[in-house]
Amino acid sequence: MKVVVARTLPAAGLDKLEARFDVEVGGLPFDRDWLREHAPGASAIVADPTVPVDGELLDLAGDALRVVSNFAVGFDNIDTDAIRERGLRATNTPNVLTNATAELAVALMLAAGRRLAETDALVRRGDWDGWEPEQFLGRELSGATVGIVGFGRIGQRVAELLRGFDARIVFSDPNRKDEVAAEHGAEQLELDELLAVSDYVSLHVNLTPETRNLIGARELAAMKPGSILVNTCRGGVVDTAALVEALRSGPLAGAGLDVYEQEPEVPAELAALANTVLAPHVGSATRKTRDAMAELCADNVIAVLDGEEPLTPVV
Ligand code: DGY
Repeated sequence: MKVVVARTLPAAGLDKLEARFDVEVGGLPFDRDWLREHAPGASAIVADPTVPVDGELLDLAGDALRVVSNFAVGFDNIDTDAIRERGLRATNTPNVLTNATAELAVALMLAAGRRLAETDALVRRGDWDGWEPEQFLGRELSGATVGIVGFGRIGQRVAELLRGFDARIVFSDPNRKDEVAAEHGAEQLELDELLAVSDYVSLHVNLTPETRNLIGARELAAMKPGSILVNTCRGGVVDTAALVEALRSGPLAGAGLDVYEQEPEVPAELAALANTVLAPHVGSATRKTRDAMAELCADNVIAVLDGEEPLTPVV
């Protein structure tokens, strides 16, 4: 059976696939034409957040196709209706990247709160003139109120990691989560209430039609003066133009961002601001996590092509 890897996959997963199937690997950077050329006859397609999978691609693959395995927990790059309509399966890689992504969210909170991008740039430019009593004063995470938007696996892990900081944890979620709230000593609020009381707001939702621009001009204006926004989920959840304005004129003191609306494009206005810390979508980028994701991604392909239930299906 032929398995088409749209871009590439760490060896931890690729070796497993190559041991069982005829694997064709597109390589980097992503080449849509290569994928279209190689899709026909594929039993499985391995995609990732940069690879759009739509009905047209599925039809190109043809009757052999059984599964699209995404090398990511987010699957907004996949048209899940098109998968369903064709009786196919789609899978993702949850759980294995929970900790890595939560750690990056906390790192961005600390980095934005203590202005690390700005201070790092100053030191590298050779512009540091020495210690000053009131230079680069930041904010502490300890004792802060942290608002977690989306209290799923990653959001909950952020709450766990913050225990040592004695932070007050509030969260918003479309589902009522009383038990989980009690477990984490957290309080569930409506989004607007959360935005009004939080010193740090960290976003942990899937990108769906409902969450696109969830944090727009109105929501940003409702945030606590001097607060910090952290986004490690998907860029489309925040209205970038409104965010730039809120960083320029308030109420935000800073933002730590790992994801952008039109990756890999990072708006020049965001990059020009001293109060942003910008990372290049590296939430899950640790050796351990990417290997575990690759293995799970391969195991999902193997399960479906062996006629079994996938380990972590989304469809
Ligand atoms: C995901 O898994 O959805 C991340 O964004 C990629 O690591």
